[in-house]
Amino acid sequence: MLKINNEWRKKMQLKVDYNNMMADFVGIEQGFTDKDFSKNKTLIANAYKEVCANRGLGMMGWTELPYNQNEIVLDILKTAKDIKKKFDNFVVLGIGGSALGPIAAFQALCHLRHNELPKSKRKAPKLYVEDNVDPERMKALLDVIDLDKTIFNVVTKSGATSETMAQYLIIMNLLKEKYGDKAKEHMIATTSESKGNLIKIAKQEGLKTFYIPDGVGGRFSELCPVGLLPAAVVGIDIKAMLDGAKYMDKICKQKDIKKNPALLTAFLEYLAMQNGKNISVMMPYADSLKYIADWYCQLWGESLGKAVDNQGNEVFVGQTPVKALGVTDQHSQVQLYREGPFDKVITLIAVENYRNTVMISEGCKDIPDVSFLSGHTMNELINTERKATEYALTTAHRLNYTITLPEVNAFTIGQLLYMFEMETAFAGAMLNINTFNQPGVEGGKNATYALFGKKGYEQTKQEMDNAPKKDPKYFC
Ligand code: PA5
Repeated sequence: MLKINNEWRKKMQLKVDYNNMMADFVGIEQGFTDKDFSKNKTLIANAYKEVCANRGLGMMGWTELPYNQNEIVLDILKTAKDIKKKFDNFVVLGIGGSALGPIAAFQALCHLRHNELPKSKRKAPKLYVEDNVDPERMKALLDVIDLDKTIFNVVTKSGATSETMAQYLIIMNLLKEKYGDKAKEHMIATTSESKGNLIKIAKQEGLKTFYIPDGVGGRFSELCPVGLLPAAVVGIDIKAMLDGAKYMDKICKQKDIKKNPALLTAFLEYLAMQNGKNISVMMPYADSLKYIADWYCQLWGESLGKAVDNQGNEVFVGQTPVKALGVTDQHSQVQLYREGPFDKVITLIAVENYRNTVMISEGCKDIPDVSFLSGHTMNELINTERKATEYALTTAHRLNYTITLPEVNAFTIGQLLYMFEMETAFAGAMLNINTFNQPGVEGGKNATYALFGKKGYEQTKQEMDNAPKKDPKYFC
């Protein structure tokens, strides 16, 4: 458990350095000036007002999660304790927003090889998140888990997602074959209390159930039971995570854009989009944050990629999110970021203090090109390389900014997740779109139902049957 007090919270506050978004640093052709801020004063003020006015309402129920979950947290902690006693594996069945948050928090806040550690060191069940319906992945999971020691958590807000329900059917069938009436002891359901099929199934089967609040969409659900239960099971301090979110929420309530990192970065990305920067690269310099970039990609892509604005006009807006990893992708992507088209904003995530320090050993004394590394730490190396990449991007006039985490812990991760959620809400308001729907995702879901012959989707099936057939001349 983290010992949290106000002084420590302040020390752990995230910082945004946006120097390299400004003309003074990247040049007047690419960069922004104070004039851009003053010219867009009304746009910024309106976006701020809209987000504040909608807090806790409609699909913005997620703004209340840091405040309204005391009882739920107690239930989660109690359930997690029981799970730890009885089981060695905790498997999340779910996809998209039901999977990416749990993966991101696990990677960020547990040992990087948690599942490979011996039980005595792990002190918590292994975590698996089945974010797909790849048959090989399902078979591989079943090859490594012992059902007797495994509990599953089926997570779907709509209670109807084909991928998740397919996973559920496979697993529940296995459990029933093996345990009969006791199958329910190996399955938890996390879903909407009021809508969908899973809640009905959970009641019929007598499953332990956690609820996803109505106003919390999949990609905004990491800080509700969707993310909190798996996190608690693997030993993450979920109270500290929520405390971090609350701390960031207070910061994001500030009207002054220069004091509100979410409003600020939303505006900078908005300006970039207006200037044809249609790609947003998220590049953490930490393996622990690798899947935060994945989670961000869904949040940013699904929320802002919209065909119409709030008045129904066609706008086709959005920014393609791209995940990268520092320093790994310096040897893969940075060539493109530095010399390719001027169509990107690159967000670097820095970590001031890593949880481990590794010295680079002495050696190869007669080869100066190698021996210069000796005596330094890997910590120095990774941070130096980040600064070097920042410099290289900036001198090539590439828009970039850096978010710094003093360290990676439950409190700073709570801040980071919440800041990205608020940033997304502000950016959506600036773009005048519905940030919280996903008609494009529904399109794919509905087409799958139709192809599988689901009742009620006959018309979609008919339309698909009538679509032009593929022409063999375009196969190679
Ligand atoms: O953000 C969203 O709403 C989606 O990406 C969903 O998370 C995803 O489609 C899974 O939906 P559900 O939770 O209903 O199974």
